[in-house]
Amino acid sequence: MPNVGIIGTQWGDEGKGKIIHLLAQEADFVCRYQGGDNAGHTVISEEKKYVLHLLPSGILYPGVKCVIGNGVVINPYALLEEIRLLKEANFKIGDNLFISDRAMVIFPYHRMLDEAKEQKKKGKIGTTKRGIGPCYMDKVDRLGIRMCDLLDQDILAKKLKDVLFIRGAILKEIFGMEPPKYKEIIDDYLEYGKQLKCFVTDTALLVNQAIDEDKKILFEGAQGVLLDVDFGTYPYVTSSNPVAGGICTGLGIGPNKIQNIIGVAKAYTTRVGEGPFPTELKDDIGAYLRKKGGEFGATTARPRRCGWFDAVAVRHSILVSGIESLTITKLDVLDELDKIRVCIGYKYQDKEIYNFPAQTTILPEIEPIYKELPGWKTSTQGIRNYADLPAAAKDYLSFISKIVGRPISIISTGADRDETIIIKGVWK
Ligand code: IMP
Repeated sequence: MPNVGIIGTQWGDEGKGKIIHLLAQEADFVCRYQGGDNAGHTVISEEKKYVLHLLPSGILYPGVKCVIGNGVVINPYALLEEIRLLKEANFKIGDNLFISDRAMVIFPYHRMLDEAKEQKKKGKIGTTKRGIGPCYMDKVDRLGIRMCDLLDQDILAKKLKDVLFIRGAILKEIFGMEPPKYKEIIDDYLEYGKQLKCFVTDTALLVNQAIDEDKKILFEGAQGVLLDVDFGTYPYVTSSNPVAGGICTGLGIGPNKIQNIIGVAKAYTTRVGEGPFPTELKDDIGAYLRKKGGEFGATTARPRRCGWFDAVAVRHSILVSGIESLTITKLDVLDELDKIRVCIGYKYQDKEIYNFPAQTTILPEIEPIYKELPGWKTSTQGIRNYADLPAAAKDYLSFISKIVGRPISIISTGADRDETIIIKGVWK
């Protein structure tokens, strides 16, 4: 049962795409289990950069089978565009792609509701405006339309009329927007169904069969635990479960079928969108990290907020995801700093807190407790052997490992797949 879950331990953008791309060389399957085209996984292959939103990061290897599980919300137009662009770049997309017949579909009214709420409601979330929240909302409201529905004209017609009756009224009465017309949507979505039909299948069956056959499987998380709807900085979160438990519900496999879970964390922290961020740096160092790390959103191109590594937050992500080891990415971004800080606890109203609080309204008021470590002031870019790292970089990594209580299995020292130090293989 060689399989590995790759989970973001911060607010997304930890570099999971690169790590999946690296590990997928040896994998049989790469499976996405949650999120939608709000994700932006940047992968560098043969010196070219690809940003994947819905397609799993294994898609660049022809021999790897890629699964979009039932927990993913799919904008079929965005998916078809992504497929078209990759085909134009000569990647094979055919019998290597499988889409769950149970995955929810994003419709134009989802994007309109997302945008309207962001514009008109007080306290913006800073969403990607891809309709993710409203689509998951329809799922739990039992109004959602699934991939299997796109393949049946009568079922689609009935469901679409029902949902438009309710969501259309909200758009019109609450937000004063003209809802999209049934006629405008149905033909487009039947056409998307026709084009995607060849990929649509019972992926729970497929993945369980693959597990039984001892295939090597990667479970690809999108976003990160601090954006998880249950365990993140609620309400400033996405609407799905990036935690490892999401693998079970988002693909239809039992928890006893997940063998190894790896957390990915940047050597510092970033966040896009609104919401609390205890270690955020609004100074020159924050600006330096943004510039050196190229910290601009892969989906929306928004500048990312940057700050020091937050061990309280990462420990929380490790706890709620059963993470066994960490991958640290973008170590080289810290190369030029004199001093590097790690947040080891929070101070709130004269009390010290070492566990991530549920009530995230207190986070803007907490004061991080920092441990300061010396920088290494030399390039680590592209280093591939742990022994070649400068002593201060090793000390920094050891400190992080000790404070979060997990070993480090992989270190990324550059954007390219091979700019990586593998300390311990991840396939058990
Ligand atoms: P939504 O997922 O578009 O609803 O956005 C909710 C929050 O999650 C916002 O703060 C987004 O910026 C953030 N978010 C969603 N997807 C990603 C991602 O892939 N990386 C980083 N942040 C994300």
